[in-house]
Amino acid sequence: MKREKVLVTGGAGYIGAHTVVELYAAGYEPVIADNLSNSSEEVLDGIQKITGVKPVFEKIDCTDKASLESLFEKFSDIDHAIHFAAYKAVGESVERPLMYYGNNLVSLINLAGIMMAKGNGSIVFSSSCTVYGQPSPEHLPVDEEAPLKPAQSPYGKTKQMCESILEDCVNTPKSDLNVISLRYFNPIGAHPSAHIGELPRGVPQNLLPFVTQTAAGLRKELHVFGNDYNTPDGSCIRDYIYVCDLAKAHVAAIDRLRDKKVRGTSEYFNLGTGRGLSVLEVLDIFMESNNVKVPFRIAPRRAGDVEQVWADPSKANRELGWVADTPVEEVMRSAWKWEKKIRCV
Ligand code: UD1
Repeated sequence: MKREKVLVTGGAGYIGAHTVVELYAAGYEPVIADNLSNSSEEVLDGIQKITGVKPVFEKIDCTDKASLESLFEKFSDIDHAIHFAAYKAVGESVERPLMYYGNNLVSLINLAGIMMAKGNGSIVFSSSCTVYGQPSPEHLPVDEEAPLKPAQSPYGKTKQMCESILEDCVNTPKSDLNVISLRYFNPIGAHPSAHIGELPRGVPQNLLPFVTQTAAGLRKELHVFGNDYNTPDGSCIRDYIYVCDLAKAHVAAIDRLRDKKVRGTSEYFNLGTGRGLSVLEVLDIFMESNNVKVPFRIAPRRAGDVEQVWADPSKANRELGWVADTPVEEVMRSAWKWEKKIRCV
């Protein structure tokens, strides 16, 4: 049987690369489009080591509509796209909002425009739990019915805007576009082979890469941002989801879009474990699972941090037939194995 192609924009990035691996495993033929602005071609080698296949790769910036159009001309049988290509650093987005609006919105508009003109297409959009802001206590854990709060950063606003843009596209009178927006909670960990994983440039902003780099001796100590929140141990609570589990949800979403008979729908799914962990708990589990020390100290709160948010993933469990069930200890081991490999510790 002919393998169906799936365009994966940002497919050389952290979540993108893990998704490409799962697409191959499920029998799809991913086509990666990436401008390598936050990744490198070595990621493609990592994918090849895992899958045994050299991934199809086009160095393309999705904000350049002409090159995206040429890609669709070259691969005229692409009906499905997973759109990861975007900037994602919250702090940077506050400093450089136009860069975020320019990149994140224009690339989505280009992709949606091409797919609508082509007809019969579907898009899986890489969204975020950031669209919920700080949910009120009665909305925890957060399900898809929770109200969207004004986003705290230009990054968060781009996720809300992109969801709205896609919704409007789906609602145009003659649209046959189908969309699934996946709202990720906090992706962590690396492929068990350690051939691919998270590779932040510069000082990591996210918790787990900072933890692994501190364990590896690259950073002196982890700063735990605040221990005076209204949570059991005072540190912030998040829903940390294994990146390989998250990747599999994208395959489930593509399967759903492909099999669906109805055209012109837009759906939203929260992707998390359903379990909230505090920063201090994460730290403990990491140290315990890997038998390694991570020096840390309590530091002031980080501006813009939400106190606590975790997912009610039951809609995704039910409708996508998917569950994030990798034990967190195993996830922590995968993160450390990856860090040790890239640092040769
Ligand atoms: C946020 C967004 C998420 C987005 C991500 C992109 C929310 C709720 N989440 O994740 O949608 O995709 O940014 O980067 O808006 N921490 C420390 N010390 C550190 C680093 C982090 O204590 O050195 C703490 C943070 O205060 C936070 C937790 O660890 O409580 C997780 O932080 P991080 O990994 O940066 O992710 P979010 O801010 O939750």
